[in-house]
Amino acid sequence: MSDRSTRRRRLVILISGGGSNLQSFMDACAEGSLNAEIAAVISNKVSAKGLERAANAGIPNIVLDHTEFPSRGEFDAALGDIIDSFSPDLVILAGFMRILTPPFVNRFLGRLMNIHPSLLPKYPGLHTHQRAIDAGDKKAGATVHFVTAELDGGPAIVQAEVPIFKKDTAEILAARVLEYEHHIYPLAAQWFCEGRLELDDGDVLLDNELLPEGGVCVEIRQKR
Ligand code: GRF
Repeated sequence: MSDRSTRRRRLVILISGGGSNLQSFMDACAEGSLNAEIAAVISNKVSAKGLERAANAGIPNIVLDHTEFPSRGEFDAALGDIIDSFSPDLVILAGFMRILTPPFVNRFLGRLMNIHPSLLPKYPGLHTHQRAIDAGDKKAGATVHFVTAELDGGPAIVQAEVPIFKKDTAEILAARVLEYEHHIYPLAAQWFCEGRLELDDGDVLLDNELLPEGGVCVEIRQKR
C-alpha cells in the first residue's frame, strides 16, 4: 500500500453545540476504529460545549462567530479559509447549525459530510423526532450523507434505524437515535479514510458499488 492510502487522514470537525458526535470521533480515533486525526474543531458559537471536549483533548479549537460577519457568504469564505489552513482530507459537520452557501459546499464537495437525525429523505430541517412521532411513524433514525447545496438533501452513505415506541417523547427518541449516530458517523468517516467511499457525480460509491437511496442500512434491534 502506498503512503497515501495508509497515512492517518486529517479531519476538521464543525460544531455548534454539545459535541457528542465530536466525542464519538475522538473516541474512535483514540481506540483505532477510525484511522484519522482531528486536526481542528471549529464552532460558530463560543458557548458550544464541544469546544471544551476538544480543549481537554489538546485538539486545536477555534470560534468563528457568524454574527460578526455582514453576510452568510463572507462567513462561509472565512470559514473555508480556516478549514483549508488545516489541510483536511475530510470535513465533518457534527451538529453545525448553519446553512452553508453553494460556494462553500462546492469548495469541499465530496469531502464534506453531515449527520441528520432522521431517515432522510424524510424530515429534512428541524424538529425531526417530534415530526416522526406526530406522523405516527414506527421507526426513526439518523442519516450520514455527503453534503450538497440542497439542505439535508445530499446522497446518503449510511442510515441507522431505531424503533419508535408509543410512550416516546421527542427527547427520549432523540437520545435513542443519538446513541446510534455515534456508531454510524465514525463508521462512514472510516470508509472514506480507507479510500472505499466516494461521491461520484451525485452518486455514492462504496467499494465501487453504487449505494441505494438510503445508503447502507444499519438496523438496530432494541427492546423497550
Ligand atoms: C445530532 O442529533 C445531529 O444529528 C444533529 O445535531 C445533533 C448534534 O448533537 N445534526 P451533538 O452536538 O453532536 O451532541
